[in-house]
Amino acid sequence: MAEKKKRDHFGSKIGIIAAAVGSAVGLGNIYRFPCMAGENGGGAFLIVYIGIVLALGLPMMVSEFVIGRRSQRNPVGAFKTLASGAKGWPLIGYMGVLCGFLILTFYTTVAGWTIESVYKSIINYYQGKNLAEIEQGFNDSINMTFRPLLWQAVFIFISAFVIVKGIEKGIEKYSKILMPTLTVILIILCVKSLMLPGAFEGMKFLFKPDFSKIDGHVLISALGQVFFSMSLGMGALITYGSYISKKDNLVTTSLMVGLSDTFVAILAGIIIFPAAFSFGIRPEAGPSLAFNTLPLIFNQMKGGYFFCLIFFILLVIAAWTSALSLFEVIVSYLTEELKLSRRKATIYSSVGAFIISILAAMSLHNDSSLTIFGFTVFDGLDKITSMVLMTLGGLFTVIFLGWKVKKQDFEDEFTNGGIVNMRLKKIFYFIIKYLAPVAIAVIMVSQFII
Ligand code: TRP
Repeated sequence: MAEKKKRDHFGSKIGIIAAAVGSAVGLGNIYRFPCMAGENGGGAFLIVYIGIVLALGLPMMVSEFVIGRRSQRNPVGAFKTLASGAKGWPLIGYMGVLCGFLILTFYTTVAGWTIESVYKSIINYYQGKNLAEIEQGFNDSINMTFRPLLWQAVFIFISAFVIVKGIEKGIEKYSKILMPTLTVILIILCVKSLMLPGAFEGMKFLFKPDFSKIDGHVLISALGQVFFSMSLGMGALITYGSYISKKDNLVTTSLMVGLSDTFVAILAGIIIFPAAFSFGIRPEAGPSLAFNTLPLIFNQMKGGYFFCLIFFILLVIAAWTSALSLFEVIVSYLTEELKLSRRKATIYSSVGAFIISILAAMSLHNDSSLTIFGFTVFDGLDKITSMVLMTLGGLFTVIFLGWKVKKQDFEDEFTNGGIVNMRLKKIFYFIIKYLAPVAIAVIMVSQFII
């Protein structure tokens, strides 16, 4: 019991929201969402995406918070505790820790590019270059050996620096500073983008759905994107949930976090598509959109130096607070289950992630032969985590909560001991028990058929 008392918690409601939104809002929103929307028909993708957030994403977020707060443990310990001794279930937790580690390895590579881009903005590298030159420069940077690894190391270092300080004095404190900064930058950039000539075409692309574009591929891409963006399926929110005070309402917390996350993705779309259309760039440009197209566009604007710089700072902040949640899953497991000190746990997980991230980064070199299952290590890690580990993790998490955890435990956490959310309880329980498992399973199976 003494040990439980020592457990660090979030100090305030604002702190929880900042940290959880920090986890959810990341490269997934600002870099991956516009890519996915661009490749999958814009408005059609957005509609499907929002539908999945409401029907599945939010109930799943609540589920993870419920499991975390009920058990007061890391993901592995949480399944051990709530399965009341039944074997097998903790595997979901182990899978989550592994998945968090694997996501970190390629996430830090992309985060490294964001720091590289901040550096390029500062030295005014983009000035006067055309798209081909900027793209060439981007490829050259990726193909360098030392520099990408240096930026990855820097990124891992700033994350470890916060993680080692703990929950309230580390994650919470930094999220409370970083998230408002991120919001201000987002709004400035949106206003700027909307003022461009021809911005309206971009808005039409994002908001006017062409329903004929919705097919199996759009559904799967949207589901994967919801999981990734809302940080679902690998225990990040179980871990954060375990630090939430018993007084806080888990449903309203999830609503705020989930809706902010979606809102930021849409804002990122509002920054990127009007700008792209205004300069005649096709929305399917993929990863190049954020890293190459935008600097080109900023380049040609008044005040472009400033806007370009704050855009990449925005990306760094978004990636940073998300990486904190990925690290926290591993660190909470190492400290609570393996009884390592927080310092050691932070060092081991950072060094481990750095080593594998070297492979991810090197696999992108033009002459690289580092592949798994026919993909580069980088793409392979992305595919394994988002198509297999996270969806499986999410599937088993809702099955666990719906069928294995005592209904009373669910109700107590969901309603804070019978005070709030009484009406919503039935609907959510139905979704968690029946709808979510079936929907995830169907979409999962169909992704392999397609
Ligand atoms: N949600 C983050 C993003 O959008 C990434 C992330 C952080 C994540 N923690 C996670 C994804 C846990 C899956 C699971 O960039």
